[in-house]
Amino acid sequence: MKKILRLLALFLAFALIAASCGGSDDSAETSTDETTDGATDETTADTTADTTADEGDEAMADGDAVTINWIQGSPVRDTAYELAQMYMDATPGVTVEIIEGPTSATDLLGTYLQTFEAQSSEVDVLNIDVIWPGDLAEHLLDMNEYGAADVTGAHFPAIVENNTRDGRLVGIPFFTDAGLLYYRTDLLEKYNYDAPPATWDELEEMAQTIQDGEQAENPDFTGFVWQGNAYEGLTCDALEWIKSHDGGEIVDPDGTISVNNPNAVAALERAAGWVGTISPTGVTGFQEEDSRAVWNAGNTAFMRNWPYAYSLSQDEENSTIVGLVGVAPLPAGPDGAPAATLGGWQIAVSQYSEHPDEAAAFALWLTSEESQKINAIQESLLPTIESLYTDADVLEANPFFGDLYDVFTNAVARPSTVTAPNYNQTSVAFFNAVHSVLTGENDAPTALEELELDIEDITGLSPGS
Ligand code: GLC
Repeated sequence: MKKILRLLALFLAFALIAASCGGSDDSAETSTDETTDGATDETTADTTADTTADEGDEAMADGDAVTINWIQGSPVRDTAYELAQMYMDATPGVTVEIIEGPTSATDLLGTYLQTFEAQSSEVDVLNIDVIWPGDLAEHLLDMNEYGAADVTGAHFPAIVENNTRDGRLVGIPFFTDAGLLYYRTDLLEKYNYDAPPATWDELEEMAQTIQDGEQAENPDFTGFVWQGNAYEGLTCDALEWIKSHDGGEIVDPDGTISVNNPNAVAALERAAGWVGTISPTGVTGFQEEDSRAVWNAGNTAFMRNWPYAYSLSQDEENSTIVGLVGVAPLPAGPDGAPAATLGGWQIAVSQYSEHPDEAAAFALWLTSEESQKINAIQESLLPTIESLYTDADVLEANPFFGDLYDVFTNAVARPSTVTAPNYNQTSVAFFNAVHSVLTGENDAPTALEELELDIEDITGLSPGS
């Protein structure tokens, strides 16, 4: 009974938070019984019920039974439930409940901020985006005090550094991410291309040719899909366009606001030109999963997305293009090199958790080599533990992990460190400005000029000469 009340309270709390964030589709929800992963979820629910109902109050009283609430963005993959179950099987007395937060990283951050503001103990463990350590540090425990100092040496040093604020490790690296170009190997062959596009010019030409050819049979077919909705994902895509046109990094690592420059203008004008030509008009409402739906349905030649999309496009049950998927670096601009935005997620523990020891122990296991290997093989998530990139099982599941290693390790970071604790505000200003150009509400030179002023106000930093 107590359990049901707790879940109900948790659900209500998150429904309220989600409602105040906007999107009903994205509502956070407790999800033990609400996903499609029947088998795993039933087991999770049963175990939960057993632990709490059978051992119940007695165990709670002597401090043995603890529930850890682990929140992350949706859709939560089956593997997350599997990992939680593995941990519960190995750790008697600990129950892990997964809370499915909003889909968009921007909305998920809103949920976290409200949870923190309320100093709520209903969330113990959180997946945090690589851009959030600076903005969220004050609400998160120092994982080094819970044993992480002994294991961080195995992870990419740059990510550990990114997650370290004032000497405190506020999140343990879980997986990393980098923007990639997905292409249809069969369609390249059909239209006599022997390699994926190396430049944006080539991509435009190939996407148009393939689209023209395929639309004769399939009116839904489009050349290129990406993330054009006004949210954090657009910041990632647009940073790639700008950086690959030699247009800087929005705010450069030395603190210069560099975004208002002719190369950035050219990059945004190019992307705006894709909308309604080689990309559907609706792309300005697309997040990752929208692009992936078009891709998995076989309705596009090219897609910009993160590595997670690879395993899902090889999934016989949900994909029409198994075996027809190539992965390459994103194209380069006229004189630029290609650029991939650095993404990725960390496991953090809330300052307001009532079970910091148990939560931190779970965080340590989730980020361990054992768990990261499972995520890499089943979900094509990039490990943050370097040695897994030479692991034969990982490479067999994801051949591109070896080929594109340099892309992953040279990915360009968003300006989250230099603008902290105002990164999110900076990014919101940036993606809204870019979105206004994509939809034709504003022209690129004006949008970037106004954006420069906004970023000055938000950060107190100054533009370059
Ligand atoms: C991916 C990246 C994350 C980024 C998000 C944007 O989840 O890992 O860093 O912020 O996409 O949608």
